[in-house]
Amino acid sequence: MLNIALPKGRLGDRVYNLFAKIGYECRLYTEDSRKLVFTSEENDCSYFLVKPADVAIYVERGVADIGVVGLDTLIESACEVYELLDLGIGRCRMAVAARREYREDRGASLRVATGFPRIAKQHFAARNRDIEIIELSGSVELAPILGLSDVIVDIVESGTTLRENDLVVLEEFMPISARLIANKSAYKFKSESIGGIVEGLKKELSVC
Ligand code: PRP
Repeated sequence: MLNIALPKGRLGDRVYNLFAKIGYECRLYTEDSRKLVFTSEENDCSYFLVKPADVAIYVERGVADIGVVGLDTLIESACEVYELLDLGIGRCRMAVAARREYREDRGASLRVATGFPRIAKQHFAARNRDIEIIELSGSVELAPILGLSDVIVDIVESGTTLRENDLVVLEEFMPISARLIANKSAYKFKSESIGGIVEGLKKELSVC
């Protein structure tokens, strides 16, 4: 039995459809269900629908053999897993953004609001920039508008959220897309099925 962790939501549904096409269909899987575990006896697999930020921990701990996760949450989780394939979907990028009027004071510590503290710290440490992290769990765009922070580090996809809140990108620094990841021992002991999935997904994605 292969256990697969998928991020709950639109990306997870897209990924499930890819898996279904390469032989891992689960007839019980439906996009509008509240169920979190779907098992297919005939295709010998189970899907777990987990919060996107939690996919990597399920895989690291071996509860799931493989999973699909955005590069942003994968890096932020710092989990020890193998990254097997860039699926090239769910594309967006990590950016530093601020109010249009913002002018940086290099002499002062930069107040950075973000839901990605590890990524933000790494980014500014590489630039020797002294920062203070203000960790938020959502709607980080509010922080510079209300004066809670100088800048934000957040995901930009279409750019609509920034535009509608009159924020501008100062720097884009990390292209993001969905990655197939594997538990380290499952990768050894279930190498045949996991290898088959990697090959199947590669083929499927090249024809999409
Ligand atoms: C994400 C991200 C931005 C927005 C970017 O938020 O944090 O706010 O999407 O997308 P855009 O460039 O297409 O506008 P999400 O919708 O996941 O909700 P959140 O604010 O609660 O994190």
